[in-house]
Amino acid sequence: MQDESVITNYHLEDDQLMDNTIRPESIDEYIGQEDVKENIQVFVEAAKMRNEPLDHVLLYGPPGLGKTTLAFIIAHELGTNIKTASGPSIEKSGDLAAILSSLEPGDVLFIDEIHRMPRYIEEILYPAMEDFSLDIIVGSEGNSRNIKIDLPPFTLVGATTRAGDLSAPLRDRFGITSKLQFYTVDELTDIIKRTARVLNVEIEEDAACELAKRSRGTPRIANRLFKRVRDFALVKGNGVVNLEITEEALERLKVDKMGLDNTDRELLLAIIEKFNGGPVGIEALSSSIGEEVTTIEDVYEPYLLQTGLLKRTSRGRIATDKAYQILGIEKQ
Ligand SMILES: Nc1ncnc2c1ncn2[C@@H]1O[C@H](COP(=O)(O)OP(=O)(O)O)[C@@H](O)[C@H]1O
Ligand SMILES: [Mg+2]
Repeated sequence: MQDESVITNYHLEDDQLMDNTIRPESIDEYIGQEDVKENIQVFVEAAKMRNEPLDHVLLYGPPGLGKTTLAFIIAHELGTNIKTASGPSIEKSGDLAAILSSLEPGDVLFIDEIHRMPRYIEEILYPAMEDFSLDIIVGSEGNSRNIKIDLPPFTLVGATTRAGDLSAPLRDRFGITSKLQFYTVDELTDIIKRTARVLNVEIEEDAACELAKRSRGTPRIANRLFKRVRDFALVKGNGVVNLEITEEALERLKVDKMGLDNTDRELLLAIIEKFNGGPVGIEALSSSIGEEVTTIEDVYEPYLLQTGLLKRTSRGRIATDKAYQILGIEKQ
């Protein structure tokens, strides 16, 4: 079987198709993130009572935790339409001006990866977010003038894996900022059972729980692993996802008991074997394992930090005793 990372390879088309069928639509179907959910419910309710648009919302956290899903749910709960764009795809100020002027009253504008929007484009957003106005320059050089266009009231929902990369003026213009957390095993078990229900697949409780334990606290990975295991159950069994099939499939996928995948292990191993356990700087680590610094920081590190396998110090990254333990390496 091909050796591929379950964490990063989520841009595949079939997954995206599946994403859309199993994505919860209403806030009641959205499992976990209780604090975030409760706040958003209150703010949505209040906005509706006042008949005003919801304040702008910034969602941040590692990939796969449900930011996009939540953005769609916010629009659903507001009973409005959602228009979507992504930071890197907005290249010219005209792109953003076009999107903004297509909004209708109360719409949600979702900008994914908002930290990757160029700064000079960000500046167009400031008056749009603050006063619902669009300031543009028309005409050619020597004969140009500023014009101000009124926009309908709207809600910007921004999503980012790195809130720290947002400029302060942009960050300050979000009235609501919510950080999504890794999910507990119980929550992921519920998510997997829900996905199984939606896709009409039978899954046994202990199998769902095992999958949950190995999903790195991440619904996207849980759903992805579930889908792989479902294939095994269909071909090797009678279609029912049980514990035995689940364990066999996960072993084949090289997902270990803690849900670490090859890159996670490679990263920890590199710190231990090449850098004597650390501290090692992120750049050195990056070139040693051949992963981009941002990928390490946004995708791999958060979970390793959360599970106490990795520590960040001012001098660099350190592999903890727990990391030695789970990799079965004696500390020198
Ligand atoms: N709280 C949740 N409850 C149920 N399913 C979820 C939840 N959060 C995410 N998912 C599922 O996980 C997948 C990834 O979520 P997504 O919103 O695309 O993550 P992000 O935008 O943060 O990368 C989606 O297909 C969605 O169905
Ligand atoms: Mg997303």
